[in-house]
Amino acid sequence: MKKLEQLYEGKAKKVFKTDDPNLYIVDYKDDATAFNGQKKGTIEGKGIINNRVSNHLMKMLEKNGIPTHLVEEISDRETVVKKVTIIPLEVIIRNIAAGSLSKRLGLEEGTKLKHTVLEYCYKDDALGDPLVNDYHIYAMGIATKEELDLIAEYSFKINKLLSDYLKDLNIELIDYKIEFGKTPDGTIILADEISPDTCRFWDSNTGEKLDKDRFRRDLGNVEGAYHEIMKRLLGE
Ligand code: TMP
Repeated sequence: MKKLEQLYEGKAKKVFKTDDPNLYIVDYKDDATAFNGQKKGTIEGKGIINNRVSNHLMKMLEKNGIPTHLVEEISDRETVVKKVTIIPLEVIIRNIAAGSLSKRLGLEEGTKLKHTVLEYCYKDDALGDPLVNDYHIYAMGIATKEELDLIAEYSFKINKLLSDYLKDLNIELIDYKIEFGKTPDGTIILADEISPDTCRFWDSNTGEKLDKDRFRRDLGNVEGAYHEIMKRLLGE
């Protein structure tokens, strides 16, 4: 397959067309941003780690009945994925209070939630990705009720699969953000990435943060945390 012109460059990835109209290639960068791009930096080797970690987790999910965009990892930083139109929603699942939920509701970080929380943010940088509910999503025509029901069902299933998988590696899944896309025939599949950029991972014993919060909050040893996640998941 041939990598053709770049279609899009995001904060952490580039997307390229290929000579197959149904496939794209994503190319993971080391660039890191936070707070809607206000904070910028580089995390050495992040692109390689996120590519491998995301593919590893998507493979596990796919095996367990979640349709994903993953086709084939073709290099350290590049993966062939199914062509989708991204549904402009950040779907967030929370098991433990942290980050913006802690701030908004005054819950101490680390508080176990009595029920899993599902949130949607409308993906729009100019608006700062505002929190929206189901009715906003129908009203704006972002997804139908049937589509959103499926997205929620997948998101909770993914939570169970990921949490159980990570628990065995001594990683607690605090929260995460996922995105879904629509293939040309209208099928909804998991897209984007699942990585230390998009999840909160805490060491089950020590509570040490092993994710992008180390960059967001200037906690130090950012690269070390990403490497630790890759080591636990892929054994290297
Ligand atoms: P939050 O607590 O800042 O709302 O983040 C919730 C989860 O979503 C956390 O695991 C980090 C992830 N996330 C992203 O992947 N992209 C983003 O732009 C933000 C703000 C959070």
